[in-house]
Amino acid sequence: MTTTPVAAAGPTTERLRDLVARTREIVDRGLPPEPTARLVGERLAPHLGAPDLLTPAQCEGDPDHYRQHVLHAEPDGGFSVVAIVWLPGQRTPIHDHVAWCAAGVHQGEEHERRYQLVPDGTSARLLATGDVVNGPGEVAALAPPGDIHSVRNGGTGTALSLHVYGADITRLGTSVRRIYRLPADR
Ligand SMILES: [Fe+2]
Repeated sequence: MTTTPVAAAGPTTERLRDLVARTREIVDRGLPPEPTARLVGERLAPHLGAPDLLTPAQCEGDPDHYRQHVLHAEPDGGFSVVAIVWLPGQRTPIHDHVAWCAAGVHQGEEHERRYQLVPDGTSARLLATGDVVNGPGEVAALAPPGDIHSVRNGGTGTALSLHVYGADITRLGTSVRRIYRLPADR
């Protein structure tokens, strides 16, 4: 996701440093995007929900839109780690990504709708292919192409998720390849 601006990484925790080291071990294997995302997701899962994963500042939301806290950006650009804080009702537009992503829910629920781009006469439209609700500890792995989705906090409390992207999104400014403004199933 990450359709709002991103800033440089701030202070981190011991547990996050451990997650970064385990992620680096996977990314440095140089596997294709899909297995990389899946294996990084497996390393991410045990840390989700741990009270010492994030600093209090990294759990703060924004009343205007979902908020991103960049937790780590690998110096060689191989990956970056972002915490996203969603207040109830906050959502992304329909989008896809510049790189693979492993996303895990740290707190609350993320409601995801996946789409497929289908021809529609001389244009195209977005067909909803599935709805997924991920709760605490659950991980989703995505790799382009075919990673078009929208995400929202459909719960009543604050939701918090960790995202590992296969790119340095502080250099790119975003993890989003494209925002889709086509007719879509809502
Ligand atoms: Fe996304």
